[in-house]
Amino acid sequence: MTDTTITATTAADFVVVANRLPVDLERLPDGTQRWKSSPGGLVTALDPLLRSRRAAWVGWPGVPDVDVEPIVDKDLTLHPVMLSQAEVTDYYEGFSNATLWPLYHDVVAPPVFHRHWWNTYQEVNERFAAATAKIASDGATVWVQDYQLQLVPRMLRELRPDLRIGFFLHIPFPPVELFMQLPWRTELIRGLLGADLVGFQLPGGAQNFLFLARRLAGMSATRSAVGIAKPGQVDVGDRTVRVGAFPISIDSTALDKQARSRPIRQRAAEIRNELGNPATIVLGVDRLDYTKGIDVRLRALGELYAEGRISADDVVMVQLATPSRERVEHYQRMRQNIEQTVSWINGEFGRMGHPAVHYLHQAIPRDELTAIFVAADVMLVTPVRDGMNLVAKEYVACRHELTGTLVLSEFAGAAAELTSAFLVNPHDLDGIKNAIEAAITVEPDEERRRMRALRRQVMTHDVQRWAKSFLAALGGQEAP
Ligand code: ADP
Ligand code: F6P
Repeated sequence: MTDTTITATTAADFVVVANRLPVDLERLPDGTQRWKSSPGGLVTALDPLLRSRRAAWVGWPGVPDVDVEPIVDKDLTLHPVMLSQAEVTDYYEGFSNATLWPLYHDVVAPPVFHRHWWNTYQEVNERFAAATAKIASDGATVWVQDYQLQLVPRMLRELRPDLRIGFFLHIPFPPVELFMQLPWRTELIRGLLGADLVGFQLPGGAQNFLFLARRLAGMSATRSAVGIAKPGQVDVGDRTVRVGAFPISIDSTALDKQARSRPIRQRAAEIRNELGNPATIVLGVDRLDYTKGIDVRLRALGELYAEGRISADDVVMVQLATPSRERVEHYQRMRQNIEQTVSWINGEFGRMGHPAVHYLHQAIPRDELTAIFVAADVMLVTPVRDGMNLVAKEYVACRHELTGTLVLSEFAGAAAELTSAFLVNPHDLDGIKNAIEAAITVEPDEERRRMRALRRQVMTHDVQRWAKSFLAALGGQEAP
C-alpha cells in the first residue's frame, strides 16, 4: 500500500479490522476499475453501523496485487491492506478457507494442513496489525473480525498496549476435539487472548474457547454462566479477557421499511409473474458454499417432485448463489454437483419455458434481493453448519404481512433464536422433505402464528443491539 501519513486529525477512535473492506475492487475487461459491495454476512452486518459514526475500516480490497490509497467514504475511512497473489493463495484460499473454514465447520470437508500456509497466515496477520497500529488514535477501540485474523489481537497489543481490543468470531468455534487437530492450536488461542473481549455467536463456542484457554495456554478461566449478561473470563497476567456469546443480527428496521415500500412490492409482484404465477415460490439464498446445504435441499425438492408430493406446476424454486472462493478445489466440486442436480430436476420436472428450479450463480443487487424475499412463500435455509445465517433473519424481516414460512437447519446459529421456524436436521433427507411439504401446505393460522413469533425476535434483536452489547462488554463504552 502506498504510505500515507496519518495525522492526529485522521487517526480513528474506532477501527474495524476485517479480512475484507466493505467494498471490493473490480477490474473491468476494458482495464478500468470500480468498487462494488463485498459478499457475505459480515459486511451486511457492520456496514449500516459504521455509516453513522466516524470510524476506520482496515481490510483487503478483494483483488491481489493492487496498491490503493485510503478512501474516505462519508464518515468512514477505508484503509486497504495489500495482498500479493501468493498471499491470497496461502493465507486466504489456503489457511483461512481450506484449513480453518472446514475445521471450524465440523470438518464437513477434510481440512488441509500446510506449514507454508500457516507461515503466510502469520505474516498477513502481522500486516493487518501494523496497519491498524498506525491509524488508531491514542486509547482507541479496535474491533477485529473473524477467523482470518485470529492472531491480530495479540500482535496489535504488542504494538499498541494502549488500545482496547475486541475480537468477534462470525463462524462457529469448533468442539475441543476438532480444534485439537490444528498443529498451531496454541498460537491461535494465544492470539485471541490478546483481546480484552472475545465474542462468539453462541454460548457453546465461548465454552469451548474457555476450556482451550486453560488447557492449551495454561490460563485460569472461569467457565460458568457464559452469555451476554454474564460473560466468562480468562486471567492473562495482570489482564482479564472477557469471553461471551453475542448472536449477530441484521438491520431489521431498515429492511422491514424497504420491504414495505411500493417499488419493492411492485417488483415482488412482477417476479411472481415472471415465474409464471406459481402457487408457491420456494427460495434459497446463499454464498455458494459447501456448508450451506444447497445440495441437500435440492435433493429433497427433487424427491418431492419425483414422488408426486408436489408438482412443478404449482411449486417453483429460486436458488440464488453468490460466487464464492472459486479457486478453492472443494468449492469447484460442489458447484459442479449442485449444477448437475439443478439440471436433473429441470430435465425431469420442468416444462418448456417453465423450469422447476431457477438457479442464478450471481450476486443480486440489494433491492432486487429484498423483492425476492417479499415474493417468496417458503424460505429454505439448510446449512450443515453455520455460525449464524443472516439470510434467515432477512427473510423474516421482509414478512410484515405475517405470511411465509421458514425451514431452518438446527445447525445454523440462528436456530437458537428462531425456534418457531420449521426446524430440520440437515442430515435427515426425509425430515427435510416432510418439513418442506409442511411449510408449503401450512394452515394460514399456523403460518401467522409462527411468523409473528419469528418477527418478534428478529425485530427486537437487531445488529445495532448486537454491536451495542458487544461494545458495552468491551469497555462499558459506546463506539464514538
Ligand atoms: P455468510 O456470512 O456465510 O455468507 P450469511 O447468511 O450470514 O452467510 O450472510 C450472507 C449475506 O450475503 C446476506 O446478507 C445475504 O443476503 C447476502 N447474499 C447471499 N447470497 C446472495 C446473492 N446471491 N446475492 C446477493 N446477496 C446475497
Ligand atoms: O462469516 C464468514 C465469512 O468468511 C465472512 O468473514 C465474510 O464476510 C463472508 O463469510 C464471505 O466470505 P469471503 O470474504 O471469503 O468471500
